[in-house]
Amino acid sequence: MKFFADTAEIDDIKELASTGLLDGVTTNPSLIAKSGRDFMEVTREICGLTDGPVSAEVVALDHETMMKEAEVLRKIADNVCIKVPLTIDGLKTCNALTLDGTMVNVTLCFSANQALLAAKAGATFISPFVGRHDDNGSNGMDLIRDIRQIYDNYDFETEILVASVRHATHVLESALIGADVMTAPPAVIKGLFKHILTDKGIEGFLADWAKTGQSIV
Ligand code: E4P
Repeated sequence: MKFFADTAEIDDIKELASTGLLDGVTTNPSLIAKSGRDFMEVTREICGLTDGPVSAEVVALDHETMMKEAEVLRKIADNVCIKVPLTIDGLKTCNALTLDGTMVNVTLCFSANQALLAAKAGATFISPFVGRHDDNGSNGMDLIRDIRQIYDNYDFETEILVASVRHATHVLESALIGADVMTAPPAVIKGLFKHILTDKGIEGFLADWAKTGQSIV
C-alpha cells in the first residue's frame, strides 16, 4: 500500500520524504488555507520533494472552468495530479483529462456507486473519505470494502486512495482490505512507527549493552 501525506506543510513532507517511505502528497483548499502559502508556489515546492503524485484541487464547479484551472495546475510539474470533486462536471473533467494523459484524483467520494462512476470516468485515484463517513454515523471502512469488491469484479485500474484517515486503525484496515493508497496527516503516519514495547525493548537492550563496555564504532 502506498503512503501519501495529506498536508501542505513543507517541513512535515521533507521529514517523511527523508524516510524513503513517502509515495506522494495530497492537498485540498482547506490544507492550502491552513498553510498560509500561495497555492501555486507551495504546490510547486511540494512537487519537488517527491517523485510521486501531488494532488492539487480545482475550485471551479463547472466543467469548462475546471478544465481551465487544470490547464494551469498541470503546468506546475509532471507529477501534479488534478483533483476534482465527485460531481457530474467533475467526472466530465476527469474523463477529458484522463484521455489527455493527465493523472486525476476524484475526491469527496462517499458511496460505492460514486466510486463506480469515477472508475468508469477513468480516474487514476478515487478518494473515499473514511473519517468523515464515520463522523456521519456510517462505517467508512465498509465503503472501502465495497469499492475493492466492485473494482476487482470489473478489473478497474482506478486506485483506491483511502482519504480522511484519522488514526492507525484506518491504516491497518485499509491494508487488510487491499486499498492501493492511503493518505493521512503526518502525525498519523509518524504514529505508525511507535510501539511502547519497541521503546521498552530498546531501553532494555541498551542498558545490557552498556554493561559490556563495548562499542561498535
Ligand atoms: C484527501 O485528499 C483529503 O485532503 C483529506 O483526506 C480530507 O481529510 P479530512 O476529512 O480530515 O479533512
